[in-house]
Amino acid sequence: MSEPSLSVSTTRCLKGEFHPPGDKSITHRALIFASIARGKSVVRGLQKGKDCLATLSTLKMMGIQMEEEEDSLVVYGQGLNGLREPANILDCGNSGTTMRLLAGLLAGQKFYSVLSGDRYLRKRPMQRVVEPLRRMGARVFGRKNGKFPPLTILGGGLKAMDHSSSIPSAQVKTCLLLAGLYARGRTSVTEPYQSRDHTERMLKFLGAKIEVDDLRVSVEGNDSFSGANIWVPGDLSAASFFMGGAAILKGSKLKILGVGLNPTRRGFIDVLVQMGADIEILNLKKVCEEEVGDIEVRGGNLRGVVVQGEAIPRLIDEIPILAVVACFAKGETVIKDARELRVKETDRIRAIKIELTKMGAQIEEKEDGMVIKGVGKLEGAQCQSHGDHRIAMALVVAGLCAQGKTQVLDSGCIATSFPGFQEQLEKIAT
Ligand code: S3P
Repeated sequence: MSEPSLSVSTTRCLKGEFHPPGDKSITHRALIFASIARGKSVVRGLQKGKDCLATLSTLKMMGIQMEEEEDSLVVYGQGLNGLREPANILDCGNSGTTMRLLAGLLAGQKFYSVLSGDRYLRKRPMQRVVEPLRRMGARVFGRKNGKFPPLTILGGGLKAMDHSSSIPSAQVKTCLLLAGLYARGRTSVTEPYQSRDHTERMLKFLGAKIEVDDLRVSVEGNDSFSGANIWVPGDLSAASFFMGGAAILKGSKLKILGVGLNPTRRGFIDVLVQMGADIEILNLKKVCEEEVGDIEVRGGNLRGVVVQGEAIPRLIDEIPILAVVACFAKGETVIKDARELRVKETDRIRAIKIELTKMGAQIEEKEDGMVIKGVGKLEGAQCQSHGDHRIAMALVVAGLCAQGKTQVLDSGCIATSFPGFQEQLEKIAT
């Protein structure tokens, strides 16, 4: 069977209003924490992309009952120790978040489990979670001495740990905090820079004893918490593709409704503003400990920027679309300190450089980022997604802003994080 592809041609501008799909990071956490909470949770706004559905089905395989209602999912939490040994391998699909978060959860379970995934996920580094989980006392095995999936976990008997992470990673942090809920004593994780803090906020919302002291987050072992009504805001990372397109195309006026505006995720908005984009934030409020609001983006003249250091974790998933925007800005855009991009769903630095170059971009690849020349225009081309949803969506937006036709091959991966992407695009492209 041939892989699906997506064809796009030049669009004048992006106009209208839309609700992005639910936030992917928050959906994973809502499903996991609701499953180990005591009693029922009702989750609204859940994202139904393939990554989140992978988390959902693994939890069902461990005995968690869920009922789908019209606009919500009811999760019957079994408490910290209510999960059952899964009868088969837990398939995480393409989802690094599923695998790394579950590794922490499973390290706390007194049973045997195996985590695997697709050919892309099986190449992603797992030592960053395997090594600290081993230090907590979990028996975790993987290919190349725990470097790569599949991972086999014989959990239980954990001792608390004070871990200092060399990379800012919300997946590593959440993995260890999940394990910490099952460890004897107090587990702390310290990061070099702040990564997204949805776990901390959700645990606080659920009433867990979580303590945040600047870059250090701590949980208490055996700290049980109750289920609740959880509302998942719209995904800023999903919305960023259309925001980027709207910022490039003059005459655009796009309103994104009910989107998560957590400060640890807002880096792309800040950078677009720095580039000269016309962006307004409206109706800001707090729901379930998360900031939520509407964003209005108008197209205009943009200039290049330098993005580095602690700004990087706040927009790590938006760098593919930022690279597209940078092609249309005046001057150079420099992205530094983003080596993590090399170990995402694909090597995103490579993939962006290769694919946008086909469209006439001028990008210099660096070990930890890239330098993008604002060439002011792109030309349609046949491009490859590299099996990466965010590369695919960035290329679609590049195609909308380019002259002529663009074909994005192997675009089925978009369903990983943005179900309904194409239908949404058809509604706003004029
Ligand atoms: C995520 C954290 C980030 C991000 C990923 C989702 C999360 O990864 O890139 O898409 O939900 O915790 P890292 O923790 O590897 O930085």
